[in-house]
Amino acid sequence: MTILITAGPTREAIDPVRYLTNRSSGKMGYAMAEAAAGMGHRVILISGPTQLDVPDGVDFVPTESAADMYRAVESWISKADVAIFAAAVADYRPAHVPEHKIKKTGDTMILELIRNPDILGSTRSIFKFNGVLVGFAAETQNVEDNARDKLERKGCDFVVANDVSRNDIGFDTNDNEVMLVYADKTEPLGKHSKHHIGHLILDKTIALASSNIAVTGQ
Ligand code: CTP
Repeated sequence: MTILITAGPTREAIDPVRYLTNRSSGKMGYAMAEAAAGMGHRVILISGPTQLDVPDGVDFVPTESAADMYRAVESWISKADVAIFAAAVADYRPAHVPEHKIKKTGDTMILELIRNPDILGSTRSIFKFNGVLVGFAAETQNVEDNARDKLERKGCDFVVANDVSRNDIGFDTNDNEVMLVYADKTEPLGKHSKHHIGHLILDKTIALASSNIAVTGQ
C-alpha cells in the first residue's frame, strides 16, 4: 500500500527573517510514517519544519508554508491508497510579505492575514482522492461534535480528535489521548505514547483500506 502522511507545523513568512508558526512537534505523523515503513508500506511523508530525524525508508517531501504543503499533496496524492493528515496547518498567512525586513515604526503594528488553502478539505473535492482519508482535529471544547462536523465537511473516513485544552497530553508532550470519530461511532483510544497511538491509528487505517479493497475488488 502507499500511504501519504502530512506532519508537523507550517511556517508562514512575515518578512525575510520572521514567520508565524505553531507548537506542533510532528511526533505523531513521524511515528506513523516510521511504523508504516517498518511494515513494508511505501510512505510519502510531507512535512513542515521539525526537529525530528526522517524515518528510514520513507519518501520525504520537506515543505515550509501551507501553500507549499498544498502543492506537495496535490502532486503526490494520486499515488496514495491512504492519506493521513496529521500536519498542523496554519489557517491564515500574512497577506503581504515584503522583500526586506520590516523596520519598527509606531507603538502598534497591524498584520493583515489571509486564508490559506484547506489541504484536507480539497482532497476529495479538488484532488478527487477516493482512498481512505484520515483527518485530525485539535479542539478545546465539544471535541466529539466538532470532530464529527469536520469529518462530514471534509469527507474523511474518520477523524482523530485531540483535546488540546489538557496540558498533560498533546503539544510538547510524548503522550496523547485521542478518540477516533467515525460517521456512526466513536472509539476512545486511551492515554498512550504518541508512538503507540501512531501505530494504533495506522492499524485502523490499514484495516479500513484492506476492507475497502475486499469490497470493491481493487
Ligand atoms: N488541515 C489542512 N489544511 C488546512 C488546515 C487544516 O489540511 N489549511 C487539516 C489538518 O491537517 C487536520 C485537519 O485539517 O487534519 C484539521 O484542521 P483544523 O484546522 O482543526 O480544521 P478546521 O476545519 O479548519 O477547524 P477550525 O474551524 O477548528 O479551524
